[in-house]
Amino acid sequence: MKIGVFDSGVGGLTVLGALVKQLPSADYIYLGDTARLPYGSKSQATIARYAVFSARFLVEEGAEFLVIACNTASALALDSIKNAVRVPVLGVIETGANAAQASSKTGDVLVIATDATVTSHAYKAACTERNLRAFEMACPLLVPLVEEGWIEHPVTLEVLRVYLLDLLTQSRAAELTPDTLVLGCTHYPLLRPQIERTVPAMRVIDSAEATAGQVAEALNDRVPVDSVGAREFYATDSVEKFKRLGTRFLGSAIESVGLVDLGG
Ligand code: DGL
Repeated sequence: MKIGVFDSGVGGLTVLGALVKQLPSADYIYLGDTARLPYGSKSQATIARYAVFSARFLVEEGAEFLVIACNTASALALDSIKNAVRVPVLGVIETGANAAQASSKTGDVLVIATDATVTSHAYKAACTERNLRAFEMACPLLVPLVEEGWIEHPVTLEVLRVYLLDLLTQSRAAELTPDTLVLGCTHYPLLRPQIERTVPAMRVIDSAEATAGQVAEALNDRVPVDSVGAREFYATDSVEKFKRLGTRFLGSAIESVGLVDLGG
């Protein structure tokens, strides 16, 4: 079983890391569309076009199951991707909403994500289907701060404080009593300890873990036991930068990265 994992950049390596923990013997092929990152500030048509190119590449390279690790692509391009390829495709929005449903006692949840994801209201819709009320907020400064490696940096801690306290204030003004916060972007799990410190009363949902759990459930009997599968990495821009940043996101060294030109 070869699992394709797609993200706009290196952030989706948090999802790959969670998948590898749950299904170490599967083969993985990862594509980061680094040349066209960020997706989070682009329009739906552009995101869908880029995501479809990327998904087709992974399937041409032998992926038999696709995980769309990018929240923005999952929110805005999942149907386009499903229509473009003939393998099963799983996005992170539904799995994140499932985990929020399992976590929330009050039925009210907060979601932080990119501008495009929030504007699409994909999380809100998935939460509403599960009888949850969701309050969403875009946190566009967090992706560049994480890419910069400013994890414990005072600027990042202050930005988090401003975003999260504003989110709590606004959600309470809208008469919600949230107890769960969904990290609706690939980059935010790297800030999980800092987020938990800022809003200690919230249960934090990392959609990377939730997605890996669902893939493991779906594929467990199709993956051999007691072996370690192959890992292939591709990027559409500097492979050196991908290796350097990617190691931080994956938590282990990335030895080799192929450069691909997807055009478009
Ligand atoms: N991967 C994107 C997401 O999860 C964040 C980075 C981007 O904007 O491309 O929404």
